[in-house]
Amino acid sequence: MKFFIDTANLAEIAEANDLGVLDGVTTNPSLMAKEGIKGKDNIFAHYVKICNMVQGDVSAEVIATDYQGIIAEGEELASLHENIVVKVPMIKDGIKAIRYFSEKGIKTNCTLVFSAGQALLAAKAGATYVSPFIGRLDDVSTDGLALIEQIVTIYDNYGFETKVLAASIRHVMHLVQCAEIGADVATCPLNVITGLLRHPLTDIGLEKFLADHKKVNS
Ligand code: G3P
Repeated sequence: MKFFIDTANLAEIAEANDLGVLDGVTTNPSLMAKEGIKGKDNIFAHYVKICNMVQGDVSAEVIATDYQGIIAEGEELASLHENIVVKVPMIKDGIKAIRYFSEKGIKTNCTLVFSAGQALLAAKAGATYVSPFIGRLDDVSTDGLALIEQIVTIYDNYGFETKVLAASIRHVMHLVQCAEIGADVATCPLNVITGLLRHPLTDIGLEKFLADHKKVNS
């Protein structure tokens, strides 16, 4: 399972990368805005900074919502760095653009996916990744993890190569359950990745080991 970090914050990306377990980064327009990155040149420069920090795919989302606009923006984004994955929303023109990018060898991440039918369409179009949003489904009383399970089954049934990238992960159990289901990738905030470290028995056990060592070594 690959771990991506879902942020545009360079310090958080550096911290996850330093841990040695990071396989890539996903961003979206909200995450870029949260960092105060504005204007095309600054946004593009920020993507390049991220690509130079991490070895692995970096999703950069298009703002255009029409076919020609998505193609133009996606090609520009893809030319920034070989690790850029063009993130395209699950809309009609987005699907057409994913087909186009797929034929051109440009990697894509189909985002804002909330149903198995949408995921099937993204795979048919040749998306590299599909991003179902677990947390946002849970927010509206729908089982986000059940969607991950459905998509994994459908892709396995037909050998689709599109990778299931579980997104909108809110806590450690989301991540662990995605791993049980067999999601290819999970993109998480930093606190979810570092949250995997925590167990009170680890802390208690370590404290005792160190105390016992000190008793006979001081
Ligand atoms: O990057 C897309 C997704 O991970 C957003 O998550 O927490 O805003 O629902 P969230």
